[in-house]
Amino acid sequence: MPQEISVRIDGELCRASEGQTILDVARANKKYIPTLCFLEGLTPSGSCRLCLVEVAGVGRLLPACTTPIQNGMSVNTNSDKLLRHRQMAMEFLLLERNHYCAVCVCNNHCELQAMAQRLGVTHVRFPYNYPRLPVDVSHERYILDHNRCILCTRCVRVCAEVEGANVWEISGRGINSRLVAELNGPWGGSKACTKCGKCVQVCPTGALAEKGLGVEEMTKSHENIKWLAVKRGVHA
Ligand code: SF4
Ligand code: FES
Repeated sequence: MPQEISVRIDGELCRASEGQTILDVARANKKYIPTLCFLEGLTPSGSCRLCLVEVAGVGRLLPACTTPIQNGMSVNTNSDKLLRHRQMAMEFLLLERNHYCAVCVCNNHCELQAMAQRLGVTHVRFPYNYPRLPVDVSHERYILDHNRCILCTRCVRVCAEVEGANVWEISGRGINSRLVAELNGPWGGSKACTKCGKCVQVCPTGALAEKGLGVEEMTKSHENIKWLAVKRGVHA
């Protein structure tokens, strides 16, 4: 039985249990912390850095989604400094690849776009990378557009933890990191892919999408995935 502890979030005394993360406790107490790579039901990866929070007595910002809560912790989820960090993290996500919303199947249904708006990111202050990246159209049902991938690994985790197929992984490092299907071959050639589409549904951008859709036509749903993850006992 996890031990009950008490913490302060934005000055408010909150009950928590050992084993919870800062994000779990903040959400249970209706405190908003922005997240992008996090998806309830999947093991958190801590890759997007949007959920950074301030913890009293700690000299650096900590990701709420992967940091375990501790008795007596005092957490601040909202400040000008945090907003500046979150905006910068968002700008780096936007400049790394080619996110042209106006011609994207997910325009207006995109978590990256919605988060940029929510954080007030109206422009990017640093030079864009403009990498030349391929689009994998080899799968009979879906496409992978590397130009729109933010390497959040939601697809990797849902495929491994919920579907159990382990089709996806990240290869390379830093700006050369790429999402790759089984043995770095074309997605359509994957023997392990069950064509379930869970990776497509959890992808926060238009990087994974169904074939045959036009601009703004791709909408996604996580509800089913959450239910499946809970059923399988993944990161309950
Ligand atoms: Fe994330 Fe989508 Fe890229 Fe997968 S394809 S890592 S879900 S952005
Ligand atoms: Fe915590 Fe992405 S949501 S690092």
